[in-house]
Amino acid sequence: RWPEFVQIKEVGPRDGLQNEKNRVATADKISWINMLSDSGVPEIEYSSFVHPKWVPQLSDAHEVGKKIKRNPNVRYSALVPNRKGLELALEAGIDGASVFMSASETHNKKNINKSIGETYPILGEVIKDAKRAGKLVTGYVSTVFDCPYEGRIRPDDVIRVCDQLMEDGVDDLSLGDTIGTAVPSQVEALLEELLKRYPKDKLIMHFHDTRGMAIANIMTSMEYGISRFDSSIGGLGGCPYAPGASGNVATNDVLYLLNGLGIKTGIEEKKIQEAALFIQNKLGKSLPSKSLAYAVAQ
Ligand code: HMG
Ligand code: MG
Repeated sequence: RWPEFVQIKEVGPRDGLQNEKNRVATADKISWINMLSDSGVPEIEYSSFVHPKWVPQLSDAHEVGKKIKRNPNVRYSALVPNRKGLELALEAGIDGASVFMSASETHNKKNINKSIGETYPILGEVIKDAKRAGKLVTGYVSTVFDCPYEGRIRPDDVIRVCDQLMEDGVDDLSLGDTIGTAVPSQVEALLEELLKRYPKDKLIMHFHDTRGMAIANIMTSMEYGISRFDSSIGGLGGCPYAPGASGNVATNDVLYLLNGLGIKTGIEEKKIQEAALFIQNKLGKSLPSKSLAYAVAQ
């Protein structure tokens, strides 16, 4: 009924940190990512090569990329918005490049200062160059269910963006519930359409947990055979261009669910807890994950 193995991408060092006002020291980020590398997680999005003015917390992406200890069993990826970002990311070292855009015109414009039409050729070039450099490329599509500015987004608008990214050569698609509004019926409606077009192993679900629906949405996605999810340690995070949105579903909570269901991930829950406590301590505030809070209380 459910997949036997679920592949988790840890996005805490990127999505988790990008909205944090308190700067985390570069050396601490490196130690933290090294802890994550040692947890058994197969992929880590370690930072973002966007304009440092927009996301100052991640302006040390290059140094982080250069100094983290690479575990050969981990795929290290980073977010890249354009050619300049890709050049910097390639220099710093990446196994995978994550390009990103939105299904909603207004969110796309606020997030990357371009219309959807203007974004396609920019990402098209990045995808081509990244593939030429032998990298895997993930295409993030944001606001696949709801947009903070435009409201409900139709599956057709999501499909249009997905089709273009696939045509341009991305290896897979990560579908973002950017503001964490979706309920399982929305996930069903979108997956029904997407699975008519793409194999299930090409689809990754990226749920933010703003309203506590992410675990229910992951269950629904697994009913459709989806076995790849993005999550953030401790539930850290949010999108700077999606007011009020909170972090991704917590890796700790996803692991609690999957371990309970007997689904393998290859990840040691205890190591994820230690890494969550490490960053919680550096940020000086409690992270939202309930499983983490419970473990700390024991
Ligand atoms: P722009 O101002 O339109 O860029 O920004 P531009 O191409 O016109 O260039 C302007 C200046 O920026 C130039 O410098 C460029 O060199 C420089 P100047 O010549 O004026 O000195 N520049 C750069 N510098 C460093 N790194 C770069 C870069 N690119 C240009 N990569 C841009 C366009 C996309 C760069 C900007 O809008 C930006 O950085 N946006 C950041 C958006 C962001 O990080 N959002 C959060 C991540 S997305 C997300 O969280 C959603 C996701 O999690 C999925 C979900 O939850 O739905 C993925
Ligand atoms: Mg996100």
